[in-house]
Amino acid sequence: MNITKTSNIKNICCIGAGYVGGPTMAVIAANCPDLIINVVDINIDRINSWNIDDLSKLPVFEPGLKDIVEKCRGKNLFFSSNVEENIANADIIFISVNTPTKTKGIGAGYASDLKWIESSTRTIAKFARNHTIVVEKSTLPVKTAETIKNILLSSDESLDKNVKKTFSILSNPEFLAEGSAINDLQNPDRVLIGGDDNYAINLLVNIYEKWVDTKKIITTNLWSSELSKLVANAFLAQRISSVNSISALCESTGANIQEVKEAIGSDTRIGNKFLNAGPGFGGSCFKKDILNLVYLCRYYGLNEVAAYWEQIVQINLWQQKRISALVIKNLFGTLSNKKLVILGFSFKANTNDTRESPSINISKEFLKEGAELNFYDPKVEKKQILREFDDFKDSKISVSKSALGAAEGADAVLVMTDWEDFKYLDWISIYKVMRKPAWVFDTRICLNREEISNIGFNIWTLGRI
Ligand code: UDX
Ligand code: ADP
Repeated sequence: MNITKTSNIKNICCIGAGYVGGPTMAVIAANCPDLIINVVDINIDRINSWNIDDLSKLPVFEPGLKDIVEKCRGKNLFFSSNVEENIANADIIFISVNTPTKTKGIGAGYASDLKWIESSTRTIAKFARNHTIVVEKSTLPVKTAETIKNILLSSDESLDKNVKKTFSILSNPEFLAEGSAINDLQNPDRVLIGGDDNYAINLLVNIYEKWVDTKKIITTNLWSSELSKLVANAFLAQRISSVNSISALCESTGANIQEVKEAIGSDTRIGNKFLNAGPGFGGSCFKKDILNLVYLCRYYGLNEVAAYWEQIVQINLWQQKRISALVIKNLFGTLSNKKLVILGFSFKANTNDTRESPSINISKEFLKEGAELNFYDPKVEKKQILREFDDFKDSKISVSKSALGAAEGADAVLVMTDWEDFKYLDWISIYKVMRKPAWVFDTRICLNREEISNIGFNIWTLGRI
């Protein structure tokens, strides 16, 4: 590819200072000291937290993020709520706003709600100047670029009617996983850029080339890029539902899911990554993206294809249901007057994100059965946990500052998140303060079963008898 120099790119604006926008722009800033990067958001509290002096209180927790923000903030990385001015000054604008699943209207429960995309695009149409490259970073339904293009080109909201504005639209989906975002951004497996304007593509390629090997930068047409993001997440989620479905079969047959995982994962065609059985996938992407894919397939009349992918979400819900049911069964079929400890509320380790966390659904099942719940998570704030249970005003719910504190008088501890710390808890002291028989339910297969059992606990581990 004929690469053009980036010397005319100076200012980048990212709309949306969330889990994607914040870390992504921080890594671009660290690798491109000549670029000025402004991350803007309409949520002033969020911007204030990005500008906070105490870096341990940034709104997104990601290993390594704090150091980059410390190095770049105020030099070439700025967080601001001044959306309009930063759009006006930008050569490239990344759209990193939220795209949750629609809750009402056509496509409710499946399609993405594009209202934040639409409103940020309208703001771009109004305030951008001259030629601007607009990059879709958020995960979007295929053909969203067309919507963005339509809004940008047909908008009559421009402030200066005499200046002809032009736009190039690119798709540059983000593949970072939370908890390893900085490493994923710094050392990506690939960078994907879709578009039909080679000049704009080359300018974006040039930015990534500052730290990513050119061979890893894939360029495609717009629709392949948008679709690849959905499909990558669908394939990853499919692996998890596959291994989770087999975890249940292991429990029935006497096979051990860890042994099965090793046996199948050593086939290089299958590969050994992303095969950990657990309480079901969470996070903001997998469920949303699969449902989006399902919607897209139905839209094009591919009903069998839609049903195939939808089953992955069904298995995920089923895994959560079956775990809550077996906990109740083991606790003599009733949870009334019982106290359960939920260890871990984030949807996986090394993040404070709780979106679609399996802890939420499983805890709700326990509350419906009359249990008292006590939570402990090393990174999730108390108010964030309590917010999920607004509909359970009559239930006893508390959040502790330590696992031991949470265990006082409890009947069972559930390990729900794969936080490394949970392996090294003082399980002897935890056992002592619990009511007997004391149970441990290890849904992440992260505890040493023999050690826990020797202390005196009854232990259930996912995927084995
Ligand atoms: C995912 C994709 O990995 C990433 O490429 C995309 O950009 C966004 O969606 P994320 O949701 O942050 O990233 O986390 P990921 O590590 O993929 O985990 C998703 C869920 O699957 C978590 O709940 C995790 O606990 C679960 N999981 C993952 C398993 O249960 N077993 C595994 O082997 C891997
Ligand atoms: P993600 O995980 O995709 O980063 P988040 O919800 O964490 O999603 O972040 C998206 C951010 O986008 C939110 O902080 C939200 O306030 C911001 N946002 C949404 N619409 C706009 C808009 N029109 N202008 C600026 N920021 C916006």
